Amino acid sequence: MGHHKLQRFAENLTFPNLFQVGFDKLQAEGFALKGKWHEQFGNDNPITLELGCGKGDYTIALARIHPERNYIGVDIKGARLWRGAKTSNEEQMKNVAFIRTRIELIDQFFAPNEVSEIWITFCDPQLKKPNKRLTSPRFLATYRHFLQDQSTIHLKTDSQELYDYTLNEVLPTEQCEVVFGTDNLYNTDYEGEAKLTQTFYERMFLAEGKPITYIQWKVNQNNNN
Ligand SMILES: C[S@@+](CC[C@H](N)C(=O)[O-])C[C@H]1O[C@@H](n2cnc3c(N)ncnc32)[C@H](O)[C@@H]1O
Repeated sequence: MGHHKLQRFAENLTFPNLFQVGFDKLQAEGFALKGKWHEQFGNDNPITLELGCGKGDYTIALARIHPERNYIGVDIKGARLWRGAKTSNEEQMKNVAFIRTRIELIDQFFAPNEVSEIWITFCDPQLKKPNKRLTSPRFLATYRHFLQDQSTIHLKTDSQELYDYTLNEVLPTEQCEVVFGTDNLYNTDYEGEAKLTQTFYERMFLAEGKPITYIQWKVNQNNNN
């Protein structure tokens, strides 16, 4: 492993707002802040997750303009999370945290009703494995364990396939209410938070000339079946 990466892993251990717990410990003891995130943040403000946050670009950008909300970036790659954790500590942002985990385990970190919004930013479209897509019914069922009724989920992706799959196959059968969807975000006059920032991967996809797609939907817990 590169020296650079090792340095980042070491510094990650010093960030008070970056949480990582090994699989065995998680299974044996559970996660200490599950159900206690509001105590951790020191307020009752609503909590937003960014799944597959990479360097935490959305987490940081949203947290800067919404001091009245709390933001938690989630990714498995520590060297990427380091960037967001470093920035949030340098800027002394009190409404930001990061979790290093596999998203498959995310419901072990949050109690029912603890989260009210999710951003999924440029996740792997998993073209050959629909069950591994972060918008698949399997993952939506996992998120429902901790989402409040009428929570909002946002998907930004360069993948037309993931966009079509989510909008036309998953959301109708999951009885989710689509609030907004576009297969070319920068061709619309939409002015919401999907245009707030361009992530590290988004900038690469834009440089390749790829259109960016966006869907925003509401999760209705009463239709959970
Ligand atoms: C294409 S990158 C996008 C990163 C960032 N959102 C951006 O737009 O720059 C996808 C990210 O998802 C993370 N990831 C993919 N599958 C994951 C999983 N099952 N659990 C946790 N993180 C995952 C990867 O580590 C990677 O950082």
